Amino acid sequence: MVFLPVSQQSLEEGAKILLNGGLVAFPTETVYGLGADAFNPQALAKVFEAKGRPYFDPLIVHIAAIETLETVAELSLLKEETRKKLFILAENLWPGPLSIILPKNEKIPHIATAGLSTAAIRFPDNDAAQKLISLSSGAVAAPSANPFGALSPTRAEHVRCGLGEKVDMILNGGPTRIGVESTVLDITNKNIKILRPGGTPKEAIESLIGFISGNEQLTVNEKQPQVSPGQLKSHYAPVAALFVLSREEIIQKTFNKDNAFLFFDNSTRDVWMNTQQPPSNVIVRVLSEKGCTLEAAAHLFETLHELDACGVSSVFAQLAPLDGLGEAINDRLIRGACIE
Ligand code: TXA
Ligand code: MG
Repeated sequence: MVFLPVSQQSLEEGAKILLNGGLVAFPTETVYGLGADAFNPQALAKVFEAKGRPYFDPLIVHIAAIETLETVAELSLLKEETRKKLFILAENLWPGPLSIILPKNEKIPHIATAGLSTAAIRFPDNDAAQKLISLSSGAVAAPSANPFGALSPTRAEHVRCGLGEKVDMILNGGPTRIGVESTVLDITNKNIKILRPGGTPKEAIESLIGFISGNEQLTVNEKQPQVSPGQLKSHYAPVAALFVLSREEIIQKTFNKDNAFLFFDNSTRDVWMNTQQPPSNVIVRVLSEKGCTLEAAAHLFETLHELDACGVSSVFAQLAPLDGLGEAINDRLIRGACIE
């Protein structure tokens, strides 16, 4: 495995590896992706193997030019009205953290889409990602570059720790800007629906194409918070047991050795500090001082990775308010704490 900073030369080398059927981890604006040539079924099989990802979970196909869309999607299968919506979304939100489910082009192998007739397509807003994709076949399938079920990588070092030698090359482009994965939007049905909340807030989509349905709201079992110590099958899970709590609940949570506290904002942390008077060595983190969901999202996986590195056994995390990227933050926290 080679670990290189992003440069014209490393991008050219990375593109060659992709064209030869290898795996290249690369930065996007959301999280690092584990890329393979989207037209090469053997290369795609390697992605599933490297991640330990079940073959029924489809990948996202990344493009770097709107003209490429027709080579990965079959737009003729869309109704006129849906096609109009697609172009409004693409014009306003691409490049960006939005993956759109579309009928797949026959050139995309079934393994990429787990046998579905649709594919998730995304145009990432990151220079290195765009160059890598353009220098290769123009379409790169990439899930997040982490072992299946683990925390998503927001730094190249996270990829090195999680996947190491299973990847041919890791391109280091520094920490990612958004910090949570793209929003996955299904426009193939009459009922346009968010399948995964993410880096593009629901409001941004609705302001362009009108009302859309949300995903099923995940809820926390308040009486009995669920725990996800790494060995259990769960998603976005840190090694530590993760408990998610509302503002009111976390304020009342008493301090215990080996527990870390992850607050959404400074004001909640201050109330908790005053109420609980924990010892000075307590491990406390705040996602966003002033309580901005965009900033909090950028720090979420980053902070969970860091708390794991501290070796804490439990993390008590505060849910975010639901505006902006709050829904995406809560989705990741709750899934990280769920037993599936
Ligand atoms: O921000 C992101 O989306 C990152 C970066 C690398 O682009 N990628 C990412 O990929 O998060 P992954 O594989 O971890 O998540 C892809 C999600 C999964 O929830 C998958 O089920 C869904 O997209 N998905 C992919 N294709 C689909 C399809 N045809 N129909 C429904 N869901 C699909
Ligand atoms: Mg993932």
